[in-house]
Amino acid sequence: MKELVLVLDFGGQYKELIAGATRQLSVYSEIKKGGLSAEEIKRLNPIGIILTGGPNSVYAQNAPVCENEIFNLGIPVLGICYGMHLICHTLGGKVEPSAVGEYGRVAVEPTKTSALAKEPFTALMSHRDCVAALPKGFDVTMRTETCVAAFENPQLKIYGVQFHPETKHTENGGNILKRFLYDICGARGDYKIDDYIQGKIGEIRERVREGEKVLLGLSGGVDSSVCAALIAKAIPSQLTCVFVDHGFMRLNEGDEIEELFGGNSQLNFIRVDAKERFLSKLKGVREPELKRKLIGEEFVRVFEEQALKLKAHQFLAQGTIYPDIVESGDENGAVIKSHHNVGGLPTDLNFTGLIEPLSGLFKDEVRELGKRLGLPDKIVNRQPFPGPGLAVRIVGEITQEKLDVLRSVDAIFREEVDRANLETKPDQYFAVMTDTYSVGVKGDGRTYSPVIALRAVNTDDFMTCEYTQLPHEVLGRASSRITNEIPSVSRVVYDISSKPPSTIEWE
Ligand code: XMP
Repeated sequence: MKELVLVLDFGGQYKELIAGATRQLSVYSEIKKGGLSAEEIKRLNPIGIILTGGPNSVYAQNAPVCENEIFNLGIPVLGICYGMHLICHTLGGKVEPSAVGEYGRVAVEPTKTSALAKEPFTALMSHRDCVAALPKGFDVTMRTETCVAAFENPQLKIYGVQFHPETKHTENGGNILKRFLYDICGARGDYKIDDYIQGKIGEIRERVREGEKVLLGLSGGVDSSVCAALIAKAIPSQLTCVFVDHGFMRLNEGDEIEELFGGNSQLNFIRVDAKERFLSKLKGVREPELKRKLIGEEFVRVFEEQALKLKAHQFLAQGTIYPDIVESGDENGAVIKSHHNVGGLPTDLNFTGLIEPLSGLFKDEVRELGKRLGLPDKIVNRQPFPGPGLAVRIVGEITQEKLDVLRSVDAIFREEVDRANLETKPDQYFAVMTDTYSVGVKGDGRTYSPVIALRAVNTDDFMTCEYTQLPHEVLGRASSRITNEIPSVSRVVYDISSKPPSTIEWE
């Protein structure tokens, strides 16, 4: 039997990061509800349990809890942030709000020998509550200037960390998880990405019976392309791929997508020109969440119409990946933004079922999967582009004129970054049209036009990112070309914010 780690979810933004990190470390993990019974846990027989973070305080009314009994099963437990508070609270310690919160990177000092970490490091913290009194039998093993950063009871194999080892912002966070999995849980590491492919192929074949059909929304991005390849492998003659050209694509992108996929007979590629209907639907709309919802709804309407035309497609497939879901908000988590393919879906969906085989994966895992499925590098390494496209890169109302300007600006910026031969290329780079107007002077005349923001970020998982420190020559060249070549632009700024606290897209 394959070894399993259970990730018990208390509403943390990063639960899939934890699951993704364990998979990266070759250990299969599954996310289950925080309150999963000890009986059920025993039945699943995991080698370890990880309790996630969450937005609640353990002492608040209706705060999610776990069964006390899970700490008596002899299975190693690691509690992260809220998970640590839960261990503390459940086993008789005390959690209190501290005078100051810790948000961002904080220095952590080991205070006692621990199997988890020996050297000082910086870690991502995001909390106000703190461990104020330890449960019996526990020792503090790491501290920050203001709080207990880690505690443990090695005899019981119960560990708690206040910081988030699952994010890239925690130095050596992967090693801390690795030590928990391998040194404390005794993992052998028997999970491979091929297991994922085989598992999903099996699931798809089981759900989609002979004679039934799947309609896939293909945007030409990495996620939907990998999704198409996976479904085509599972049920080759039962898939139709519909590319909805909503008019918010980048320069020449619609034609490029048609060229790339149109010739593949396994995909039954169809391009639908829906530019006018999307633009009129969004007329006068300024609010980002409403834009996303309307675009999501219109997407599905177009699919439904296509399904009706094509007749008898029972399933709608989408290349939704995990960050899309987490940011759209789930049961306990907060809504950050509704991704068009998640929060935007209307409830009266006219399909029997939804197929989202990548919904538990991160971008880097999807890319790896794409390579294993034999997709060309050109597709696998494409930088991500949001489903709602340029519509969420124009702050405020969308008009045809603004779309045309942004498309040209964005193409110039991407060209300059590509041309710069940078040692490490940003993982995503694009232009945004803000709704701030500024005064400029061109050819002795006054201009008053929207400020353009350029954004470039480095990230592996797109859940967090650092802004890219692009060389000034590259930024300068891009700015000068943009203001020279695009008559209506006279001011360009560079976005130097990381995620958190910002997000990658502006809306
Ligand atoms: P944010 O802006 O949430 O973006 O930090 C994280 C990653 O997701 C992309 N993104 C989307 N992808 N549908 C998608 O398929 C969407 O609605 C959407 N919104 C953002 C974004 O480009 C970044 O790579």
